Amino acid sequence: MSREHRTAERPAQHLAEQPADERTPAIEVVDVTRSYAFGSTTVDALRGVSFRIDEGEYTAIIGPSGSGKSTLMHLLGCLDRPTSGRLRVSGRDIGELSDAELAQLRNREIGFVFQAFQLLPRSTALDNVALPLLYRGVGAGERRERAAAALRAVNLGHRLTHRPTQMSGGEQQRVAIARALVGEPRILLADEPTGNLDSRNGAEVMRILEELNGERGVAVVLVTHDDEVAARAHRQVRVRDGLVERDSAAPAPAPAPRGADDDVHDDVHDDADDGAGVRRLGA
Ligand SMILES: Nc1ncnc2c1ncn2[C@@H]1O[C@H](COP(=O)(O)OP(=O)(O)OP(=O)(O)O)[C@@H](O)[C@H]1O
Ligand SMILES: [Mg+2]
Repeated sequence: MSREHRTAERPAQHLAEQPADERTPAIEVVDVTRSYAFGSTTVDALRGVSFRIDEGEYTAIIGPSGSGKSTLMHLLGCLDRPTSGRLRVSGRDIGELSDAELAQLRNREIGFVFQAFQLLPRSTALDNVALPLLYRGVGAGERRERAAAALRAVNLGHRLTHRPTQMSGGEQQRVAIARALVGEPRILLADEPTGNLDSRNGAEVMRILEELNGERGVAVVLVTHDDEVAARAHRQVRVRDGLVERDSAAPAPAPAPRGADDDVHDDVHDDADDGAGVRRLGA
């Protein structure tokens, strides 16, 4: 596929600078619900959620524990299907795709960074990162090259053959990010990517995500409990009780049923960092 070599051939596409109405929606969510059968009862984790994420956007999903954030992320990441409603990823209605087609869409379009890293413990950093390319049928030499480039992009060029148990938490999270970006996804989803990290490693992870968004135009959606992390995103979507309570990108503000005193600021804090990493990918 032509997208395989996008990195090297895509010098400086600043999707984020295009006017919103000219961008392709990366994800569209229309009245989506997700219920879990739980014993004899049902948990309605999402109760009718609608929004769209454009290419190149940088969105934070916030909200209390149990409000449905991870459930929503799993849906956005095509790791799960809605109970009802429609979900389109890169223009494709996932309700119309077989499991195999869904897996392929996920592999090509989406990088997912889990809070708990979810790396293979016995595999080296290089093999962990190369795995999505193996599923894609990329040959061994190219897999190795691209995985090494992705690891260099997150400043882990010196840890290629380390296993997860031989790395710090911050390093493991960066391996997880390298794995998510190695396939050059349009969309990067990160569920509390800094939740397990100290402030220095958390800042490094945020810098990498911001570079991916700002310089490569990857749509980034992250879940966070950290108001500072949320305020750095260009858009904040607040989830409560399985509903979108507030979306800073919505044309008219949703009615706020309770005091909005704990809301994060909507200010855009996108001053570019001087970070070296992501633009080197594929170099
Ligand atoms: N597999 C499951 N079976 C039954 N209920 C579930 C399942 N997964 C999640 N839930 C319930 O769905 C609701 C939403 O869960 P979810 O994990 O999406 O919350 P969250 O907003 O990510 O919370 P946190 O901030 O604590 O990670 C919760 O009430 C949770 O208990
Ligand atoms: Mg969660």
